[in-house]
Amino acid sequence: MKGIILAGGMGTRMLPMTKVTNKHLLPIYDKPMIYYPIQTLVNAGIDDIMIVTGGKGAGDFLELLGNGKAFGLKHINYTYQDGAGGIAAALALTEHFAERNKIALILGDNVIEKNIVKGVADFEKQEKGAKIYLKEVKNPQAYGIAELDGGRVLSIVEKPEQPKSNMAVIGIYMYDARVYDIVRTLKPSGRGELEITDVNNAYIKEGTMTSEVLDGWWGDCGESFDSMLEAANLIARTGANNL
Ligand code: DAU
Repeated sequence: MKGIILAGGMGTRMLPMTKVTNKHLLPIYDKPMIYYPIQTLVNAGIDDIMIVTGGKGAGDFLELLGNGKAFGLKHINYTYQDGAGGIAAALALTEHFAERNKIALILGDNVIEKNIVKGVADFEKQEKGAKIYLKEVKNPQAYGIAELDGGRVLSIVEKPEQPKSNMAVIGIYMYDARVYDIVRTLKPSGRGELEITDVNNAYIKEGTMTSEVLDGWWGDCGESFDSMLEAANLIARTGANNL
């Protein structure tokens, strides 16, 4: 399986900290934000990784990460997103890298306490489709939220005003090679972006989406200043990525 990390976007929710640099280069406790999703992939045995960056400070990723020596990697692939057309638009830029392999996609602002080792192994065995992780949140209006029937995901609504549950879809997704064909069918949402939630709903409709509740805490450092602070405090207390 190949790994993709999204570190583009404009970081407007994090202004003025993102006025001169990329959100994913900001510190979260003792490391730059981008370190955590890279470590999540490496811990799951995924060492063929592409980072999609853009916006401010795109060149600084190369200076910070190089070929990924700090993570025991021999090489990191990079690509550049013009503007911020959405998570699915950033994903579309990686089709040549995926080469019809299954992929694990991680949003560059998502940090987890433990690991995705079992999920990756399960998805390797899954014949086709996609896999998502769910986690209970206090503020469901800020995320993609699952409508559930027992353990089954019926649909996902992006930032719902009236959430049908408090189970958020976290920013770690696994897809088969058809994901790029699905992205090509998407239309921009109300916020003018190609939404990953629409990709996930396509797999749900097809009946090939699996899901599991993430073990350990999860932080979306890019959601608000408070979520960033909370993630830093969790890392300071318990560590992240089982480290
Ligand atoms: O963190 C989980 C949430 O992430 C999910 O629950 C939502 O369903 C999903 O849409 C996403 O919501 P956000 O509003 O938090 O996404 P955000 O715009 O912050 O983008 C997430 C990451 O993707 C961020 O690290 C930057 C990157 N990105 C974003 C956009 C819009 C790109 O690389 N390019 C882009 O064009």
